[in-house]
Amino acid sequence: MAPPIYLLLFTIAIQAFAASGCFEIERNALLAFKADLIDPRNRLASWKSQNCCTWKGVVCSNTTGHILKLNLRNSYDNIDYLYYGKRPSALGGKISPSLLLLNHLEHLDLSLNNFNGIRIPTYFGSLKNLRYLNLSQACFSGMVPPQLGNLSNLHYLDISSIGCDAYDIAVDNFAWFTHLSSLRYLDISFVEMSSATYWLQAINMLPLLKYLDMSMTSLPTIPISLPYLNITTLGVLKIAGNNINSTLPRWLWNLTSITHLDLSLNEFHGFIPDELSCLKSLIVLSLGYNNFEGLSPKPFSKLCGLNTLDLTEVGFSGEINKWVEKLPSCTQQNLQILNFPYNNLRGNLSGWLENMTSLTEIDLNGNSLNGTIPLGVWRLTNLTRLYLKSNFFEGTITEVQLSHLQRLKWLDLTDNSFNVQISHDWIPPFQLKALHLSSCNLGPKFPTWLQGQTQLEALVLSNNGIVDTLPNWLWNISSSLVYVHISNNQIKGKLPWSLDHVRLQYLNLGSNQLEGPLPALPQTLSFMNLSNNLFTGSMPNSTFLSLQYLLLSNNSFGGNVPLSLCESVSLQVLDISSNELSGEIPSCLGMLQDQLLVLDMMNNALSGKIPTSLGKLGALAILDLSNNSLSGKIPSSLQYCTQLINLNLGYNNFSGTIPKWIGESLPFLMVLSLCSNTFSGSIPSEIVQLGYLRALDLSHNILSGSIPRSIGELSWEKGVPIMPFFEYSNYNVSAGSVGSVYLVVKGEAREYSKLLYLFESIDLSCNNLYGEIPDEIGDLQALQNLNLSINHLTGHIPDQIGMMHALESLDVAMNNLSGTIPQSLATLNYLSYLNVSYNNLSGKIPSGYQLQTLNDPSIYMGNPYLCGPPTTQSCFTNETIHVFGKRSHDRFERLGPDISVVLGFIIGFWIFCGVFLLSRSLRISYFSAIDRTYDRLYVAVALALISLRRRFREV
Ligand SMILES: *[C@@H]1O[C@H](CO)[C@@H](O)[C@H](O)[C@H]1NC(C)=O
Ligand SMILES: *[C@@H]1O[C@H](CO)[C@@H](O)[C@H](O)[C@H]1NC(C)=O
Ligand SMILES: *[C@@H]1O[C@H](CO)[C@@H](O)[C@H](O)[C@H]1NC(C)=O
Ligand SMILES: *[C@@H]1O[C@H](CO)[C@@H](O)[C@H](O)[C@H]1NC(C)=O
Repeated sequence: MAPPIYLLLFTIAIQAFAASGCFEIERNALLAFKADLIDPRNRLASWKSQNCCTWKGVVCSNTTGHILKLNLRNSYDNIDYLYYGKRPSALGGKISPSLLLLNHLEHLDLSLNNFNGIRIPTYFGSLKNLRYLNLSQACFSGMVPPQLGNLSNLHYLDISSIGCDAYDIAVDNFAWFTHLSSLRYLDISFVEMSSATYWLQAINMLPLLKYLDMSMTSLPTIPISLPYLNITTLGVLKIAGNNINSTLPRWLWNLTSITHLDLSLNEFHGFIPDELSCLKSLIVLSLGYNNFEGLSPKPFSKLCGLNTLDLTEVGFSGEINKWVEKLPSCTQQNLQILNFPYNNLRGNLSGWLENMTSLTEIDLNGNSLNGTIPLGVWRLTNLTRLYLKSNFFEGTITEVQLSHLQRLKWLDLTDNSFNVQISHDWIPPFQLKALHLSSCNLGPKFPTWLQGQTQLEALVLSNNGIVDTLPNWLWNISSSLVYVHISNNQIKGKLPWSLDHVRLQYLNLGSNQLEGPLPALPQTLSFMNLSNNLFTGSMPNSTFLSLQYLLLSNNSFGGNVPLSLCESVSLQVLDISSNELSGEIPSCLGMLQDQLLVLDMMNNALSGKIPTSLGKLGALAILDLSNNSLSGKIPSSLQYCTQLINLNLGYNNFSGTIPKWIGESLPFLMVLSLCSNTFSGSIPSEIVQLGYLRALDLSHNILSGSIPRSIGELSWEKGVPIMPFFEYSNYNVSAGSVGSVYLVVKGEAREYSKLLYLFESIDLSCNNLYGEIPDEIGDLQALQNLNLSINHLTGHIPDQIGMMHALESLDVAMNNLSGTIPQSLATLNYLSYLNVSYNNLSGKIPSGYQLQTLNDPSIYMGNPYLCGPPTTQSCFTNETIHVFGKRSHDRFERLGPDISVVLGFIIGFWIFCGVFLLSRSLRISYFSAIDRTYDRLYVAVALALISLRRRFREV
């Protein structure tokens, strides 16, 4: 202990003399403790009277008068998860060692405060009498001091650390836990423990332990077996979210007192053994998000007291009715929460679900269940949650069915074949918190029966064929309304003149027919999609501190891009494409620094240069400025946007040369389009270093020189840059696309998704390129589209083109190519577009399977010395060459829809979740009130984040 602490203790101690009801020495210790704290809301206002036993949070012994408890827990209500990290009434500052003078202290609770990353004081280890220590979510950081191991009287220890952005606490050595021999309750969730190898052996030395939460701790391993299990009194075990890749450990089945077992969000695999049925006390069992094989009902056969069964996304397939029938009838009677979403369940709900009369929550989202909903299910009057999203259910649902569900709070019927026809003057018996009725055929009228739902937090009515005006009562329906998603209808009319009284966080009105200028918008927004409407006027000109997504594309917004955007410091995705915006790109956008990921301004009337400051956007992945009137050179500062995946500057008036650094500094580029500008000079050979490049469009410029010989080194096979977003693409949370790229393929412009990585294309057409087509081009074996037309290329078409097995479209028209068309072309099974017209080609047109389908004479015209079909000119010899090749479908056509689906998912997820949640500033309770799915999603992403962060740390 450092000398100043002694000094402090001494100073306080010498003033010690008895005071009424409270020891002066303890009173002074508390005053010294208070003096070091920051207390913005004056929670310790009562800490001044003589009798410190009456102070708020202080409890003294009735017999000895000594202070026993110090309870300074902040209240949950005072943590505003929306403005994350802001905890208005949290205590902060330093923790004075004067606490050591509270010799009799048994109970210390500092949870939910904000100590801003200070360490947990080592001298807590000297509070020898402590039985209860709660430091959870109080924003400590660094290593948990092993001195806490001295607290041998401790019964309760909570150091869980979730909720504090940027602060991590860690335990590297678990040995000191073995000294906490009185411990009954231990919560160390969200504490990083990846190097605590012998944690289970240590825990096994705590024979009194009843509660253990080690979720989200990056546990390094889990022993499969133990020689002897000491912790047989354990009632609660949570090791969720640890990426544990193992079969289920055998010692689990000796935990015969266990009531709560949470193994979710790991990589547990293999079979669930029948021994599970030994855990007869189980009340809550969560096995979700693992990879079990063929879930048999047998292990569940003795779990009579089970109240909650969570099998979310565990690869559970088969007929649900047969499975449930094999559960003991006591389980069927007692089960209250049944969560089986995102499995592969088949069958229907008849004959089993209606018998489970205790059910309060049902989640069957994302399975393959079908049929109608039996009447008995609508009479499960205890139901608070009914989630049936994304199945094949059908039937008409009217107020008749819904009228028995008085307790219903969360209803999700999205994406089935339901016909939800509810009479507009119906008064429901329930007060919903979340209503998800996407794709339920609700239209054409806006459902007016919602008017009495005064507790609504989330309303999802997208894609319902609603052809109506948006009623003004919607915005006043409930003071809790935070999430409104009504996209993809034909909703007309204007928004009310102000919405800033609504505490909306998510607003999606995309793809409707809303018009007029925008109202004053809520400052609370973090996601706003108004794209594909008829809005006019200027873009919103206020600062939104929480706004992360602003999607306004495809409207008629005019005027300048407002500077206020630059102060919206949370902005990650800005899509204002396809509007009528003019003026220059604000150079202050650079202020969004490492925040902005997508900047899409395509299809506007912007002019001037690209501001140098955009180089400060170090996280930018998509920069699309195409189809404007921008000019000048590409600023060299863009080389600092090293995360760029898509750089599209096409259809502008840019000039100068193509900088070499594009190949050297932007290693993740997948799409590079500089087409239709006036770039000159030659194609820098550095471009071949772009290992992920999928689409290169330099067409319609005045580039000269020859095609770099090294072009064959473009290594198309490396896959997708490693980004966390791709891993979680199966969560169907879409949020509108972020525009697209146009590629000229097979002679026509097509629209592709921006994160194109399945289609591979090079377009160098309409330039002044000369020289020969390098033979090395044949090395581009994954290339699907090659367009070299309208240049001055000479020499032969290289025979190696026959090695480009993926080629679907080849255009070399309007050059000065000579020689014959290589016979190898006939071996390209996927080739479905060919243009060699207007060259000096000669000789016989090769024939062969695929080429026979390309029999339009215009493919070959303008080459007077070509002969044979499909031209009318005949050749002298008449030999036929047979080429055997499998008839294949046009792979490109086949991929078309896949590309958009896959990428739609990826982009959707990336935009909504990846990015949204990746900024850890997403708070666990933000969505949980709305929909537990999001909560789970958060956990999944938080997990990904943690493992990612650690992976990076290891690298
Ligand atoms: C002290 O006495 C009060 C009232 O008699 C009682 O409520 C409280 O629990 C006692 N406190 C302790 C620590 O024994
Ligand atoms: C079981 O707990 C006791 C008491 O803490 C300890 O002495 C013993 O070593 C433990 N056994 C194992 C196998 O860890
Ligand atoms: C689990 O219980 C079985 C049967 O009671 C016993 O044989 C086995 O040794 C126990 N395993 C552990 C790790 O304690
Ligand atoms: C789990 O481990 C197995 C074998 O040890 C390995 O093949 C598999 O890829 C791992 N799974 C994950 C998700 O890491």
